[in-house]
Amino acid sequence: MTQAGPSRPVILDTISATRSALAGIEDVVLVPTLGALHDGHLALISRALELGSTVIVSIFVNPLQFGPNEDLDKYPRTLDADLDLLGIAGVQYVFAPTVEEMYPHGATSTHVVAGQVGGLYEGRSRPGHFDGVLTVVAKLLNIVRPAVVMFGQKDAQQVFLVRRMIEDLNIPVRVEVVETVREDSGLALSSRNRFLDAKETRAARTLSLALEAAASSADRGVDAALAAAQGTLMGEPLVSLDYLKIVNPETFLPADDGYRGPALALIAARVGTTRLIDNGRIVLTG
Ligand code: PAF
Repeated sequence: MTQAGPSRPVILDTISATRSALAGIEDVVLVPTLGALHDGHLALISRALELGSTVIVSIFVNPLQFGPNEDLDKYPRTLDADLDLLGIAGVQYVFAPTVEEMYPHGATSTHVVAGQVGGLYEGRSRPGHFDGVLTVVAKLLNIVRPAVVMFGQKDAQQVFLVRRMIEDLNIPVRVEVVETVREDSGLALSSRNRFLDAKETRAARTLSLALEAAASSADRGVDAALAAAQGTLMGEPLVSLDYLKIVNPETFLPADDGYRGPALALIAARVGTTRLIDNGRIVLTG
């Protein structure tokens, strides 16, 4: 265990030090992150600080959730700046393990399999991604044993799958979800936004505009909502759509045109070379 500067959290880099530091504390709140913290994470953290006496933020760029052609090496690593932000926010502990500490058996270690929904949308574009996410989340929950774990609504499919895993594997933790934080333009905050140049940043707002267009046409059914969103995206040549789907939030399966009720519109697109995701609630009526 290393005690960092006065305003910084205690940095724990081993599982045993983390268990010792948290032993006997009942209302621990865990905020799992990949680091490169931004205001979206700070919204999770400020809610976490309201919920429990002890907040621990994990910072771990989990190799298991990155595919062979993805941005694992390029993923921003900003530990120093992250620790400053967490100190200012009043977080007590950071768990920042090495890959060897988390996966001592390397590629031969046991994995969680995300199931049917894990192979759709993000999981279809990024095979194995959700197995990697759920494996690391299960490990973090076992290491920290928090009362509450925090996630952001921006990763709606991740939230659905984590909840499903917690239910299926009977893990005793409550999930708390915090709304997506957006720039004034509507662009959802993401650690990957830092890769966008000025033109791409302007183009990236089309994702949230497309979600708004879907919501405005939702009184005419799923197909009309999808067409409205697609129409918005067509006007922006820098955006290359990966998927645009409307799903039933209870099952996370695609909603058909006859579906009525609350739904989620999901979008993923490349803006230049940067892949972004977003989602918005819509209500299908009419
Ligand atoms: O959403 C993320 O930042 C990651 O997928 C998570 C939950 C920290 C697991 O690595």
